[in-house]
Amino acid sequence: MTDTLTLAPTTDGLARAAGLLRAGGLVAFPTETVYGLGGDARNDRAVAAIFAAKGRPSFNPLIVHVPDMEAARSVARFDARAEALAATFWPGPLTLVLPLRLDAGISPLVTAGLPTVAVRLPAHPVAQGLLRAFGGPLAAPSANPSGKVSPTRADHVLAGLSGRIVAVVDGGPCAVGVESTIIGLDGDPALLRPGGVTVEALEAALGQSLQAGGSETRPNAPGQLASHYAPGAPVRLNVTAPEAGEVWVGFGPCPGAALSLSETGDDVEAAARLFHILRQADDLAGPAGRIAFAPIPDRGLGRAINDRLRRAAAPRG
Ligand code: TXA
Ligand code: MG
Repeated sequence: MTDTLTLAPTTDGLARAAGLLRAGGLVAFPTETVYGLGGDARNDRAVAAIFAAKGRPSFNPLIVHVPDMEAARSVARFDARAEALAATFWPGPLTLVLPLRLDAGISPLVTAGLPTVAVRLPAHPVAQGLLRAFGGPLAAPSANPSGKVSPTRADHVLAGLSGRIVAVVDGGPCAVGVESTIIGLDGDPALLRPGGVTVEALEAALGQSLQAGGSETRPNAPGQLASHYAPGAPVRLNVTAPEAGEVWVGFGPCPGAALSLSETGDDVEAAARLFHILRQADDLAGPAGRIAFAPIPDRGLGRAINDRLRRAAAPRG
């Protein structure tokens, strides 16, 4: 394939990116969570190309990104609970799984044939600008090869997908740093993936607790397979005493740690840095080394961080 262009997030850059998307091309773009690999959600060939570029199994459906509520309601059916969550958390790092509207023209490849669709209204101004310039729904998984570490900077996207996509819009580092929280609303509200909106905030808004989502053997969000977000080096968790040959990544006070997710033990800072630090630790570890993470409390964004780290540490293959 041709070289991947890097576009600036200017009016001209976004117009060019939108033109490439209309022609069926794949363009990576920043969101507040991670970079997405965008393609026209109504174009079967573009959607098939997303799965091919990532090496992603086609049974794993994609999230549809929209610029506003009107577009969201044209893709999925919103009940009162969905309207309330959208009013509270959109634009922002929340994805809702809702009944698909068949008249939306979404490619069946996007939903992997399911009767539901995952919809997200991102807050990042570049994502918003691109969606408006394009003028339609964009299917966008994270812009990394399937199973690898998600990208939070344009150079992470290029490291994994250069030559496989037509362009990346460079909007700098992503502020949230972990993917959106996914809530299933086709039955009782269920947490399908912890992410950038905390469970505490969602339960407060819903006035009820969330059901546990999929399991690792029967995932409800089919992308939630055990091994994921995997760096090259093996990963060990909850480490307070690192062993020889381990690159120790701290959280809070960890004297002697090579890297730190947050020296003050701040979950928001740690989430923003997580995927970049995983890449840095992998480089430091080298071909024979290993990575060890200090314990991170399982509350707030710590829940999403621990979910990603458990998958990074899971047996491969
Ligand atoms: O923050 C994010 O959500 C990022 C940015 C780019 O928006 N996107 C992202 O997409 O993380 P991806 O493809 O890496 O993760 C999508 C997840 C997968 O776990 C998939 O199984 C789940 O959403 N999903 C999509 N459609 C679904 C559906 N109809 N029912 C249940 N899960 C669904
Ligand atoms: Mg992903």
